[in-house]
Amino acid sequence: MPKITFVEHDGTAHTLDAETGTNLMQLAVRNGLPSIIGECGGNCICSTCHLHVDAAWTRTLAPAGEEEEMTLEFAEERTATSRLGCQITVTDELDGLVVHLPETQS
Ligand code: FES
Repeated sequence: MPKITFVEHDGTAHTLDAETGTNLMQLAVRNGLPSIIGECGGNCICSTCHLHVDAAWTRTLAPAGEEEEMTLEFAEERTATSRLGCQITVTDELDGLVVHLPETQS
């Protein structure tokens, strides 16, 4: 089972076991992480699942799609590594993935 680490702005790390096929927003919400809300239920319209992918992992992920890019325009603290958690599906290849949570969502 892949392990995904979410790092809060204050450095607190949460390493979670993730079932393949789930997405990062669902994983965070199910485990009660405070910084990911998932207000739209994963429909790519709210940006409350905004996160920053660790630089070491950006090439492993498929690039954001057009709809995700449009929604990210509304995210605070957007960077080159910004993604929406609901649009990243866990696969075995993502075992060890690290993502960072924006300060504005803490
Ligand atoms: Fe709303 Fe991801 S949960 S955009």
